[in-house]
Parts: sequence; structure tokens; C-alpha cells
Amino acid sequence: MSFKFNFDIEADGEDVETVGVEATPSVPVEETSPGSSKISAQLHSLDELIAKLPPHIAFSPLAIPLTPSKTITIPRRELFDVKMQLMAEDNNPSTNTNQNFSAAFTDEDIRTNTYEGGLKSWECSSDLVKQLATDSEIWINSDHRILELGCGTALPSCYILQTLLSKPSDHRVHLTLADYNIDVLRLVTLPNLFLAYLHATDNLPSTDPSVTEGSEETPEIELTPTVISSFLSTLQSHNITISFLSGSWSPTMISLIHGGLEYPSTTSETMYSLLLASETIYSPSSIPDFVDMIEYALSNSGKGYIAAKDVYFGVGGSVKDFVDMIEAKTWKWEIIREEKRGVGVGRVVGVVSKS
Ligand SMILES: C[S@@+](CC[C@H](N)C(=O)[O-])C[C@H]1O[C@@H](n2cnc3c(N)ncnc32)[C@H](O)[C@@H]1O
Repeated sequence: MSFKFNFDIEADGEDVETVGVEATPSVPVEETSPGSSKISAQLHSLDELIAKLPPHIAFSPLAIPLTPSKTITIPRRELFDVKMQLMAEDNNPSTNTNQNFSAAFTDEDIRTNTYEGGLKSWECSSDLVKQLATDSEIWINSDHRILELGCGTALPSCYILQTLLSKPSDHRVHLTLADYNIDVLRLVTLPNLFLAYLHATDNLPSTDPSVTEGSEETPEIELTPTVISSFLSTLQSHNITISFLSGSWSPTMISLIHGGLEYPSTTSETMYSLLLASETIYSPSSIPDFVDMIEYALSNSGKGYIAAKDVYFGVGGSVKDFVDMIEAKTWKWEIIREEKRGVGVGRVVGVVSKS
């Protein structure tokens, strides 16, 4: 099922055009229920995804107002640049690895089981960034294993990464970014992590109009071998490691998180102390799988920051449906941020914990 939400979401870039190409993913699929084929989960190393990066990334800064006097800036890849890369790959059989990722060219927000919306930044991800800035003492001064589920453009993880890289630290942090689509991970998630690193180390070209002398060109970075190796050595010097997961929330993904242990076995070392998710509970049929991910990936003392709209009209998911499942497990749920704009749909950030 394809779907376009009829309310304001924060899409980056201009409207996208339909080109009438049906998506035919050639990635592994798993039958989770009769008639529904979801993409199987796979683990990807940082090196594997770096090898898939384009040579240039066009970007713009996203300004997220935190207080009247403080704004958080997160640079992110431009959607038009993603589309240009996909068009170039489509025209070149030797580099055509995108499995007809036509969702990038349509105006659909999601196409169920094919594309789950990760190319655009959704509103609640800015709310989650604000909350992480407010609660920074939770993640800034200790070792952590952080999992962002349904990361897409990964603004929350980028904010954490750029904050950690902007000062010396002795703490060990492992960051796992999971998105349904491998193409989202290679086209926006990892490029945005590079931009976060360059921003933290003051190596991004300026986007200030007074410095660019009114140039209308979108700023770009070049991913040279030097930039890549300094990214890797900066991560190493900050004790930060990164891995990626693609595919559906599933027993396979849980097993991959736990080093291949048979589902539902887990080990405490591979559980996560901080779980982040924005706009991941819009589909009632996926909420149980999402709750399973929390069950088998979040440690007993960990915190899961979940940002979502109160209701997803048209598709049916809601915070209430999610919270009912959380409470049935006797976990705790606390709403720590509420946002409402005019008569629009309310948005919340809540924390789920098991104890
Ligand atoms: C609406 S997008 C939100 C992206 C991003 N968190 C944001 O707020 O901008 C929903 C995300 O949830 C993930 N997702 C949805 N259903 C999924 C499923 N069944 N298995 C794995 N991931 C799923 C997709 O990766 C997608 O990026």
C-alpha cells in the first residue's frame, strides 16, 4: 500500500515527481505473515557503507530552535542531491545498485513493505533532538550503546554524534543506526553522519550568506580519501564505533543485534542503554514488531526515547496503541515533551523504561 499523509510533515527539498516506476526490491525478503513480504534484516559495517558513498554531498543546515536564544544546527543532505545520485546510478548499469528505489522520485511518504519514509526528515525527529539537548546529562557523560530505530535522516543520532565529537571524551559509545531500507542508510543516514562530523570539527563550508556573497549554489562537501580517513580516526580517538542494520524489525534483526544468537536469546553486553525512535508507530500492524525490538534490544536499566504524533490519520497508528502495549508489559511510560501547533495533530516525546 502506498500512502501520502494529509497533514504537514517536514519534508526536506522540493516536491518530488512521480515517474511511474514500480518498485521491485531485489533485496532479500522474509514472509512475516501470509501475503506480506518484508525486507529481511541485514547487518552492515561502517566500512561497507562508506564504500557506497557518493563523491560529493550537497547539504543545507537545518535550524532547530531550542530556546528563544539557542538554536541547534544540524546539516543534512539535500533530497535533490539524493535524486541526482539515483538518476545517475539508473543510467549506469555498472553502478545500478539501488533496486529501483523509485520511492525517491514519487510524492509518497511511505510505500508499505517497500519504502517506509526514511528519505525525509519528519517533524518529531526535531522534537527528539530538542529533548536530547535538554536531557544531555543522560548520554553525554557515560559509556553508552545507542540504537536509533527507523533512523531515516537520523537527526537525533547526528545531534549526539556532533555533540560528542565537538569535545574530548573518554567514554565509549557504540551507535547503531537501523532503517528499513539499505538505500536510506547509504543515501542519507551515513552522509548525514559525515556532515555531523565535519560540522563538529568546523570543517564544513560556510552557508552564511554574508560569507558566500549571495551565491545561490548549494554548498557541497567532497568525500575524499583524506576526509574519510580523518572521519574514521576522529571516531577512533573519541572511542565511538558505528554499525548499521537494514530491513524489517524481526527476530532476524534481534538475532543480528545479539551476534547471531538464536532468537529470542540476548546478552546484556549487546543490549542498548539508549534507544531512540521518531515517527515509527504510524502503522498498527508494525507496532508489535517495534515493541519486540524494545523488549529484546533495550537493557533493563535503559531508556527508550520515542517521539510520535498522537494519531496517524489514514494509516491508523497512535501513541495510545503503543502505550497500551507498553503497559501490558508492565513497563513504564512517561511523556516528557508535548508539542502542538494551532489545531494540528499533537506530538509527544515519551520515555519507555522497563524498571
Ligand atoms: C516515517 S519514517 C521516520 C524517519 C525518521 N525517524 C524521522 O523521524 O525523520 C519511519 C521509519 O521507520 C522505519 N520503519 C517503519 N516500519 C518499519 C519496519 N516494519 N521495520 C523496520 N523499520 C521500519 C523506516 O526505516 C523509516 O525510516
